[in-house]
Amino acid sequence: MAIQLGDVAPDFTQESTQGTIKFHDWLGNGWGVLFSHPKNFTPVCTTELGAVAKLKPEFDKRNVKVIGLSVDALGNHEGWSKDIEETQGAKLNFPLLADADRKVSDLYGMIHPNASDTMTVRSVFVIGPDKKVKLTITYPASTGRNFDEVLRVIDSLQLTAGHKVATPVNWKQGEDCIIVPAVSDAEADKMFPKGYKKLKPYLRVTPQPNR
Ligand code: BEZ
Repeated sequence: MAIQLGDVAPDFTQESTQGTIKFHDWLGNGWGVLFSHPKNFTPVCTTELGAVAKLKPEFDKRNVKVIGLSVDALGNHEGWSKDIEETQGAKLNFPLLADADRKVSDLYGMIHPNASDTMTVRSVFVIGPDKKVKLTITYPASTGRNFDEVLRVIDSLQLTAGHKVATPVNWKQGEDCIIVPAVSDAEADKMFPKGYKKLKPYLRVTPQPNR
């Protein structure tokens, strides 16, 4: 069965460009993003890995470790890394799993046989400090992902983990939030000292509480 939100992210041990990864140990107590690539030496994947390498400081700021996966052998990853640096102007600064035996791809359902028998789709799993899956995204091989969107969702996940708010459509860090319906008005009066606008009984808008 497909991995669903709230499931514990399956643990594994696999080789990577930064040595053997024991996934749960490697995650430690922070957040993680695991994302798959259909194949080495392919153009869209090359641009994605360069983009994630450039965004690494943004993931670090949020205490999020990133790890890529491709169903190719380790030696093959090393050659590809050089191409990524040459063409994208960024060196791989996070581990890339060498999943030639498809151990991790199968565990996470990253190969969708009706799309391809051999290549993974472009999966993204965001994992919280409790090792539970907080977000899954699946793109087809032909469409490069938007990693700014992954960061945006992580901002929302980290905010909503600590405050009784949800984030509205297209929300970005610093913008107003929505008080969750389970909080009564009396509780909201105490919980949100910056106040809130009650547009409807179920739609109460408040400034971002941790800013
Ligand atoms: C790519 O990364 O460019 C790619 C990989 C597999 C199929 C199509 C495109």
